Amino acid sequence: MLKKIAILGSTGSIGTNALRVIEALGDEYQVLALSAHSNIELLAQQVKKYKPEFIAITNPDYAKEIHELVGNNDIEILTGPNGMVEIAQLDEVDILLAAVVGSAGLPALLAAAEKGKRLAIANKEPLVIAGQMLLEKTKESGGSILPVDSEHSAIFQSMQSGKREEIYKIILTASGGPFRKLSSKEIENVTREQALEHPTWDMGPKITVDSATMMNKAFEVIEARWLFDMPVDKLDVVIHPESIIHSLVEFVDGSIIAQLGKPDMCLPIQYALTYPERVEGIVNRLRLEEIGNLTFFEPNLEVFRGLKLGFEVARTGGTTAVVFNAANEAAVEEFLAGRIRFVNIVELIEHCLNKHSNKNDVSLEELLETDSWARKEVKNYLQSGHKSLI
Ligand SMILES: NC(=O)c1ccc[n+]([C@@H]2O[C@H](COP(=O)([O-])OP(=O)(O)OC[C@H]3O[C@@H](n4cnc5c(N)ncnc54)[C@H](OP(=O)(O)O)[C@@H]3O)[C@@H](O)[C@H]2O)c1
Repeated sequence: MLKKIAILGSTGSIGTNALRVIEALGDEYQVLALSAHSNIELLAQQVKKYKPEFIAITNPDYAKEIHELVGNNDIEILTGPNGMVEIAQLDEVDILLAAVVGSAGLPALLAAAEKGKRLAIANKEPLVIAGQMLLEKTKESGGSILPVDSEHSAIFQSMQSGKREEIYKIILTASGGPFRKLSSKEIENVTREQALEHPTWDMGPKITVDSATMMNKAFEVIEARWLFDMPVDKLDVVIHPESIIHSLVEFVDGSIIAQLGKPDMCLPIQYALTYPERVEGIVNRLRLEEIGNLTFFEPNLEVFRGLKLGFEVARTGGTTAVVFNAANEAAVEEFLAGRIRFVNIVELIEHCLNKHSNKNDVSLEELLETDSWARKEVKNYLQSGHKSLI
């Protein structure tokens, strides 16, 4: 049966890989809708090649230009942030692949969850800030969530070896990023260029910086807490620099089941689209004899304070997770723009968390208010000219 797919964030690293995967899957899969934020040239090329029926450009500044580039009678062009929600609600969408970066993808994910769609989620930030809400809406509507994050895809696959109640522990692997061997002193002087050089994964800039601070792993702990409805005490992180084992599930009898593969997002993307089937795809096969050794270490929680905070935030939940995410998004933006140093990212997050009082069971409006409060707090702190921020 034909499966119609909408990709939110088609111009990003996950989005472009997803299009390659869909192309290789053949006629059973059709690109129905695409969304981009600002890369109109690439979106126009994708329109020409994949012929979607709907596109959305979420940054309204590009609305006129995208009409000029691709405007014709066969395509509906949606503009502004709500364009993603309109796509998510289309009756024709069978699978919504969420590949936008940051919390901007949340309203569309909630809309698709309400409509009972299959959500293939790479965009982890909405799960971090509103995991419970998303899960509840999916349950109510009879929809489903398939993880695209490689760790969560690995956990999802490994969990199929036993019953949920037989799980002893979920072990998320982390490459450790480019700075995994540095001390607290050494990490103070790293540059933007060094932070953007990930040793094993080729990803968009925000998640690459999140991997360097290990905030990405912190988010993944929170993501796992919601996706698999697991108490935080059953979640663990181990550094595995080769990024071959994507994560593991330990069962009560002591068996540990892992999923292995090359560090290539095409595999988890494809599995989320074809599940429960497995089909041949474009991913290069792993040859264990070429790998040789696989190594594992404990993460250094003194150097990577963001990861330590992630476990605490996963336990607290509520609006604390919203602040944790929004402060990071705002701080990473400042770092990528060259206005703060690498170590300031976690300092800013800590500052916002310290100023915040947690609230549980909040509405979407309260959640979004907290998100903008944290972003403003980052700006205020920077404008106050705090000494350490140079
Ligand atoms: N890359 C990976 O290997 C990987 C692995 C696991 C999970 N993830 C997660 O997947 C998500 C996407 O990551 P990525 O690396 O693919 O990011 P990316 O390369 O930076 O791409 C981000 C996409 O989101 C769009 N976008 C940016 N800001 C937006 C906004 N305010 N509103 C709507 N759309 C917006 C971009 O559009 P324009 O380019 O047109 O501006 C682009 O299509 C993130 O949540 C990340 O944590 C990524």
